[in-house]
Amino acid sequence: MDEALIRRHALPVPRYTSYPTANHFSAQVGVSQYRQWLDALSPAAKLSLYVHIPFCRELCWYCGCSTKATHRHRPITDYLGSLEAEIAAVAAALPGRPRITHQHWGGGSPNILQAEDILRLGAALRERFTIAVGAEFAVEIDPRLLARDQVESFAAIGVNRVSLGVQDFDMAVQRAIGRMQSYDETRLAVELFRGSGVDSINIDLVYGLPHQTEASVVRTMEQVLTLSPDRIAIFGYAHLPSRLKHQRLIDEKALPGPLQRFAQSQRLAETLIAAGYRQIGIDHFARADDRLAQEPLARNFQGYTTDAADALLGLGASSISRLPQGYAQNVVSSEDYARHVAADGLATARGWALSEDDRVRADAIERLMCDFDFSAQALRRRFGPAADPVIAEADAIVAEDVDGLVEATSDGFRVTPRGRPFVRNICAKFDAYLPRQIEQRRHALAI
Ligand SMILES: C[S@@+](CC[C@H](N)C(=O)[O-])C[C@H]1O[C@@H](n2cnc3c(N)ncnc32)[C@H](O)[C@@H]1O
Ligand code: SF4
Repeated sequence: MDEALIRRHALPVPRYTSYPTANHFSAQVGVSQYRQWLDALSPAAKLSLYVHIPFCRELCWYCGCSTKATHRHRPITDYLGSLEAEIAAVAAALPGRPRITHQHWGGGSPNILQAEDILRLGAALRERFTIAVGAEFAVEIDPRLLARDQVESFAAIGVNRVSLGVQDFDMAVQRAIGRMQSYDETRLAVELFRGSGVDSINIDLVYGLPHQTEASVVRTMEQVLTLSPDRIAIFGYAHLPSRLKHQRLIDEKALPGPLQRFAQSQRLAETLIAAGYRQIGIDHFARADDRLAQEPLARNFQGYTTDAADALLGLGASSISRLPQGYAQNVVSSEDYARHVAADGLATARGWALSEDDRVRADAIERLMCDFDFSAQALRRRFGPAADPVIAEADAIVAEDVDGLVEATSDGFRVTPRGRPFVRNICAKFDAYLPRQIEQRRHALAI
C-alpha cells in the first residue's frame, strides 16, 4: 500500500451507519410524521429497540458519542422518568402489541444506571412490549463503573450480550486520552458477566490515538486476547475538535498520521486473523462460532448487526428510529428531551422521508459496507427501473478506477481486496447528497 494511494483515497467521509447520513436530516419529519409511521407498522412486525443513556461519570477526551458527564444521580433518575413516558407514548402509537426481537442499550454508559434503575427500565419495557423468546439483548458497558449488583440486574432482565469499552491498555496512551483503565478492571468485568451467564462479550478498541504505535496497539491486542472476547470492534479515532470541544484536550502533535493509522489497523487485523477471528465489515472481528460470522450482516446506527427486524425504534435523547418510510431522530439534549416528552409524549425533532432513489442507494451502500459488493440483479428485483441509475454509476466508477479498488462482477459491483480499506470512500461515490469537498470537513479520516 503506497502513501500516495492512501492520501488520494482516505479522504474524510461518513461511516455510513445510515443513508442518507444523519447530518442531512431536516425538521420536516417531526412528532406527527413519526406517529403516522408508527401507526402504519403491521401488528405482526418484528421490532428492534435502541435505548440511549446519555450520561457518563467523566468525558473521555476522544469521545465522539452523544453523552455528558455527571456526578449526580438525580439527572439520571429524572431521565428514566422521561424514558418511561416516551416508552408509553411509542407503545400507544403502535398498532397492537408488537414483538421485540432485538434490544440494544447504548450511550454514553448504560451502567451509570444503578442496579435498581436497570430493573426499573427493564420492567418499563416489558410492561409495554412483548420480548420474543431468544431475543438478542445487548448493552454497552464502561468497565470502570461496574459493580456486581448491576451485573446481576442486567442478567435478571435478560441481557445476553455486552460490549465493553477498552480503547487501549498502554498507560501513556491512556494519559493522553483522559481515560485510565487497568487490565484487571476489565478482566473483572468480563468475569462478572460470564459468572452471571452473560457470556457473549465484545471489546471496543481504538487505533489512531495519541502515542499509539504499531507495536503498542499489538501489545494491547495481545492483552485483550487473553480475555477471549467473542467479538472485537476496532474503530479508527475520529478527531473532530471543531465540533467536539473536549477533543481539543488531545495533543494533535502526538496523533499518528494516515500512513501510521493504516499500518496500525493492518497489524491489528493480522493479529486477530492469526488468532482465529474472522473480519466482519470494516471494523469488526468475530470468532467463527459467533452469530456475526454466521448470519447475514446488516448495518445500523450501532454498527454491524444480525438484527433483521422490520423497524428499529430509538428511545431517549438523540436516538434515531428507522422505519420503512424513513428516519426519525429525537432532540439531542437531555433537557430538551425531557421537555418534549412531557409536552407530546414523543421527542422527534428531525428526520428524513426516503425517496425510491434513497432506498436503492441505501441498499447498495449497506451491502458494500457489509459484504464489499452488491448484486445488480438483486437491486433490480427489489427496486425495478429505479435501480438503473445506481447500476450505471457503478459501471462508470469501474471505468474511472485506475488504482484497482473496484471491479465489475458477472452480477454487479465489487470492492477488490486492495480497495477494502477505502470502502467508505467508494460508498461516498454513490452518495447523492455529499457535496464534494465542502461536506468532507464534517467527517473524520476514513482510515
Ligand atoms: C458508548 S462507548 C462504549 C461504552 C462506554 N461508554 C465506554 O466507553 O466504556 C462507544 C465506543 O465508541 C468508540 N468511540 C468513542 N469515541 C470515538 C471516536 N472519537 N473515534 C472512534 N471511536 C470512538 C469507543 O471505542 C467506545 O468504546
Ligand atoms: S467513550 Fe464511553 S465512557 Fe468515555 S465519554 Fe464516551 S461514552 Fe462516556
